[in-house]
Amino acid sequence: MTSNILPRHVAIIMDGNGRWAAERGFPRVAGHKAGVETVRAIVKASLDLGLPVLTLYAFSQENWKRPKEEVNVLMELLDFFIHKEIGRLKKEGVRLRTIGRIEALPEKTLAKVKEAVAATRENGRLILNIALNYGARTEILDAVGRLLEEAAADPGRFRPFGARLTEELFSEYLYTRGLPDPDLLIRTSGEMRLSNFLLWQLSYAEIYITKKYWPDFTKGDFKKAIREYQRRERRFGDVKA
Ligand code: FPP
Repeated sequence: MTSNILPRHVAIIMDGNGRWAAERGFPRVAGHKAGVETVRAIVKASLDLGLPVLTLYAFSQENWKRPKEEVNVLMELLDFFIHKEIGRLKKEGVRLRTIGRIEALPEKTLAKVKEAVAATRENGRLILNIALNYGARTEILDAVGRLLEEAAADPGRFRPFGARLTEELFSEYLYTRGLPDPDLLIRTSGEMRLSNFLLWQLSYAEIYITKKYWPDFTKGDFKKAIREYQRRERRFGDVKA
């Protein structure tokens, strides 16, 4: 049965920029540039649909292993995106957030990101959450580290450990604190992997994979993924939703 309930949170693994470029005989970075246009289109589509939260996997911890030049271009594209879009994001009610160890970003990019996050803090129509230098295992370790620090400072806080440390409480220690878990994960370019993305938060998410490369992914494809989500029966381990 089809419902018309929108996902509260859609997370996207934007994949295939390099292959899109290679198929056209372009350098890989041309694929990333084209990918920024898709980011723009999908943010706009999210606003049109009234989606509350959109998370985009823009740069993983593992992406530092790519050639230095490609890493530089990715950072520049992020700067460029913020520079060009900040006015519109502010006006349209988009709140920018990040997940990941952003302190490791180049100084200039970090300053731009922080400025954009601060400038859109009061917005509430759409939360645009960008994963930067993100790794899900590191996120979980960071959460555990903070919990242990707090437990050492205040031994009564989590005792008895199992009873007080609930899933809800643990979620508040993750980078995504305050956000609902994604209901839908979209991955482009046909790969069937999670790639260290939101491992805790995606526990019950519906997964939608399309063969299209990210630069070819359109607003129509996005709507198709959401319609497919709406057709699925979510059981959460029960027999009937
Ligand atoms: C995956 O394609 C894409 C990335 C690692 C980067 C995604 C970044 C952007 C679209 C631009 C900047 C982001 C924002 C939010 C403005 P790939 O290079 O892994 O492609 P391949 O698997 O075909 O090589």
